Amino acid sequence: MHWPITLPTSTPEKYGKEDRTVRDPDWNFCDTWREMEKLLETGKVRAIGVANFSTVNLEKLLRTCKIVPAVNQTEIQPLLPQEKLNAFCSQHNIHQTAFGPLGGSGSTLHENPVVKRIAEKRGCSSGNVLLSWGVRKGWSVIPKSINPVRITSNLRDCFEMNGQEVEQVDNLVEALGGKRFNVPNWGTTVFHDD
Ligand SMILES: NC(=O)c1ccc[n+]([C@@H]2O[C@H](COP(=O)([O-])OP(=O)(O)OC[C@H]3O[C@@H](n4cnc5c(N)ncnc54)[C@H](OP(=O)(O)O)[C@@H]3O)[C@@H](O)[C@H]2O)c1
Repeated sequence: MHWPITLPTSTPEKYGKEDRTVRDPDWNFCDTWREMEKLLETGKVRAIGVANFSTVNLEKLLRTCKIVPAVNQTEIQPLLPQEKLNAFCSQHNIHQTAFGPLGGSGSTLHENPVVKRIAEKRGCSSGNVLLSWGVRKGWSVIPKSINPVRITSNLRDCFEMNGQEVEQVDNLVEALGGKRFNVPNWGTTVFHDD
């Protein structure tokens, strides 16, 4: 489930152009999840998960669900380490997948001196540093690229970060302040943990 919100029923013509701040009053994400649970019974679906769920919305979902989400896909990068959410997900055995692990397009993280220094020492790109940090922290990382060289390198050139390097990247949020890159306006609070 991509977002913890419900949009009014759309039409093929209007799809993607809806007013995203309008909710369907007769439906909520627990209803959607109940329908998704039925898919497992068909045998065509092996696992179901959510995205952009906060601890508040996960708690709400866990109160009514039969199947605990296999995964919660959320933005996680050094300036948004999501510690509260990660702790909650670990406690409930929900795997975290990091979208935007490089900070998205126009990311300033690639130019960060700490990230660059580790990259130089390791002989890899800043992207590899950011991805290696995420993997070492325990989440899956899903970087996006349309550049074949970067796609290959993002997969191939990551490395096992040592504790000191992890700590240096961990400290960035305190030094630079927190930043969420992906902030759509749904007309309601979805990022309760920020
Ligand atoms: N569940 C959700 O709500 C949600 C929301 C947002 C995104 N996502 C998913 O998460 C994935 C990634 O997120 P994202 O695209 O927002 O952010 P991202 O992967 O953090 O950043 C992508 C940007 O980084 C550049 N890039 C990729 N590899 C690089 C490298 N090694 N060095 C320097 N720049 C590099 C890409 O440019 P080039 O293409 O030119 O390489 C692109 O501009 C996507 O598959 C997306 O579908 C999910």
